[in-house]
Amino acid sequence: MEKKIIGIVFGGRSGEYEVSLLSAASVIRAIDKTKFDLVYIGIDKEGQWYLVPKAYKQEEGGKVREITADLIEDGSWLKAAAKIIPGDIKGLVDFALPVMHGPYCEDGKIQGFFEMLDIPYGGCGVLASAAAMDKLTAKDIFRQHGIPVCADEAVTRSDMASDKEGVLDRIEKSLGYPCFVKPANMGSSVGVSKASDRKALEDALTLALEFDRRIIVEEFVNCRELETGIMGNDYPEAAAVGEILPSAEFYDYEAKYLSSGASKICIPADISEETREQLRTLAVKAYQAIDGEGFARVDFFIDKDTEKIYLNEINTIPGFTKFSMFPMLWEEAGVSYAQTIERIIELGYERYNIKNSR
Ligand SMILES: Nc1ncnc2c1ncn2[C@@H]1O[C@H](COP(=O)(O)OP(=O)(O)O)[C@@H](O)[C@H]1O
Ligand SMILES: [Mg+2]
Repeated sequence: MEKKIIGIVFGGRSGEYEVSLLSAASVIRAIDKTKFDLVYIGIDKEGQWYLVPKAYKQEEGGKVREITADLIEDGSWLKAAAKIIPGDIKGLVDFALPVMHGPYCEDGKIQGFFEMLDIPYGGCGVLASAAAMDKLTAKDIFRQHGIPVCADEAVTRSDMASDKEGVLDRIEKSLGYPCFVKPANMGSSVGVSKASDRKALEDALTLALEFDRRIIVEEFVNCRELETGIMGNDYPEAAAVGEILPSAEFYDYEAKYLSSGASKICIPADISEETREQLRTLAVKAYQAIDGEGFARVDFFIDKDTEKIYLNEINTIPGFTKFSMFPMLWEEAGVSYAQTIERIIELGYERYNIKNSR
């Protein structure tokens, strides 16, 4: 079989631009280059698309090494890259592998763009991506499917403008304190805060409104955080279950990406066999409920006091460095990092071929 050209698409117009660079560099280093040729497509923070040329470095002893991944990782790729029109990728790649997170990247928008260009791509399609990114919509779908989620209230910008005190009363009455305030459509804990009184709640709502016009306020769950990875189209399978041991009070942006090494992940999670199977079954069910394809990471809360399980969220393009939870959960299940990447490409082709044979 001729080698397919995989376009590694990274960067993007989201707060998780830097995380994407780390994920993409890791994927580039690990992907099996005897099976795939690579083309690097970068998107800067303004949304401009670039073709990144392959870069080489002469090492002592005359050895020449491709160092594109290093330049992507440290952000200097932009200096050497040539602007392209987004649609140009149709002629540059056989397959697009978006390794990027957050709005415009993980929420169905770029997926829709690949669909329009008729390019096969890795990961969830438009519907699953958009549904998973919107915390209010995702939880509505989970409830419809009998998947347990914690109690919440929806608040819109117009609710706040027309009756702020009424909104605060409603939340106090139904959820109480502390509660968690999050923009409906963000990621990486951006704009997320925990509120312990009325003043803090008002401030948290105001902050969250800077990021989205719809907000979700949730009851506070004093919880352990457990996650599993799913891969598959029609027959999704769950990987091992891992636990996040956050360094900060909650798993915020700082704890996730900045204070590196401070938050620990524990694989496999120290839970009973019964709980593990429950989580893996629920994760597959939730993935199917949003019409997941390719892969996703499914995140749970387990209440420390009652041991009740809640589905927190599905991330359709989870962190993807070699040391990120998703690939490590598959390593634990016997699938290497390189094999995970290859499987995601296979699943993207499978979906594309089925669609095109109809
Ligand atoms: N209802 C909640 N109760 C307790 N902690 C929460 C709650 N919601 C979120 N958190 C904490 O905040 C973190 C980020 O929230 P999450 O909903 O996962 O948003 P993001 O999409 O930014 O990852 C979680 O990993 C968890 O530590
Ligand atoms: Mg999360």
